[in-house]
Amino acid sequence: MTITTTSTKKYKILDPETGALDPRIYSDETIYREEMEKVFGRSWLLIGHESLVPNPGDFFHTYMGEEPVILTRDRQGGLNAMLNVCRHRGARLTRTDDGNCASFMCVYHGWTYGLDGALEYVPGEEQAYDNKLDKTKLGLRRARVETYAGLIFATWAPDAPSLEDFLGDARWYLDTEYKRRPAGFIAYGPQKWIQPVNWKTSVDNCSDWYHVPTTHSSASNALARVMGATRYTHEWNWTVPAKHAFVNGHQIAVFETTGHEAPAEEVERLGEFRANNVAASASSIFPNTVLGMRLAIPRGPLQTEFWHFALVPADATEEEKRVLRMEHASQNGAAGTFEADDIDNWRQVSNSGATFIGAQQEQLLNMGLGNAGPHDVYPGMVTDRFVSEHNQRAFYLRYQEFMNAGSWADISLEPQTAVYEGTTAEM
Ligand code: FES
Ligand code: FE
Repeated sequence: MTITTTSTKKYKILDPETGALDPRIYSDETIYREEMEKVFGRSWLLIGHESLVPNPGDFFHTYMGEEPVILTRDRQGGLNAMLNVCRHRGARLTRTDDGNCASFMCVYHGWTYGLDGALEYVPGEEQAYDNKLDKTKLGLRRARVETYAGLIFATWAPDAPSLEDFLGDARWYLDTEYKRRPAGFIAYGPQKWIQPVNWKTSVDNCSDWYHVPTTHSSASNALARVMGATRYTHEWNWTVPAKHAFVNGHQIAVFETTGHEAPAEEVERLGEFRANNVAASASSIFPNTVLGMRLAIPRGPLQTEFWHFALVPADATEEEKRVLRMEHASQNGAAGTFEADDIDNWRQVSNSGATFIGAQQEQLLNMGLGNAGPHDVYPGMVTDRFVSEHNQRAFYLRYQEFMNAGSWADISLEPQTAVYEGTTAEM
């Protein structure tokens, strides 16, 4: 079954020539409903991390857009993502966040499903149903599941490309973070909280370094005073050696680390250039993931549930893990200093198109227009500018493409061009 849209509406969301953005995309109820179908109904979506379900029988309750989903590790070690809605009358099967079990029994009438979603037991199958139920056709609705470096993605769309093609050359950059160390990562958390903002604001903000010296001035000053950290200033922003890359609506900011000598084992994994010269920083995976790692789960046009995980190297010492988790919580957790700074901005932006006159005033995303293009070494569309609005433009152009597509047949994939030196073997 191909997931096709019921709407043939065409949206002009972002003008790529001028950077003008329609602000109604944040608050309009009709647009939001179409997003659930056209973006979240067909895109690959991050739903968890392998470390959340390490053992057979483990499950983790997650979401694909608004859809409640059970992620499981079955007895064969496979990963499954199933809609948490009983095939009988629609009751939810599990109401807990995570756990370990042999099967899922619906608490309404007792239909029982296996770890892979197969319907295994129906009370009164003979007495009530005269043995006429075809249990093989009544398993839970399953999503396709694939992984990249321990990150688990799922899609409802049978016609979606592979996850590898969906990520495309974004992997060349992400490898420098997520495949640098062989032990991989452990995801702690998530911290969950709800804010009155549109889900898109936090994703497009992900590598908006322009806001940092202003919005995070007090947090940055405090970190500089207490810990001797670099103060984020506009002057620092203009001169930092970095690249921003854009592939298939994903964006990655990388620092150029000339002079760095990576351990031989990292060089073997990533090749000399990537190991020594590229350090991934902020990145977002279309549509609603910020690595690493956070989900912006839509709860209505003007409400988002944030799930923030601390992604910590699995081979770090216990003390290092504790410090990294504290750093996550203190900066980007629910009460984090940086988080608190950001939220009010996102709230104002989300509401800017909700009024009659406000809806007529386009937002302006024209910074750095014309300064991104192909690069000899770095794959994807690339800019040398650390501060630009290429990130936002790439994200909203991809969003516009999804909103105007009838199916995956109408959605483009950039050709993969990266030369993957060393090994990028699946971890
Ligand atoms: Fe689940 Fe009836 S709703 S068994
Ligand atoms: Fe911020």
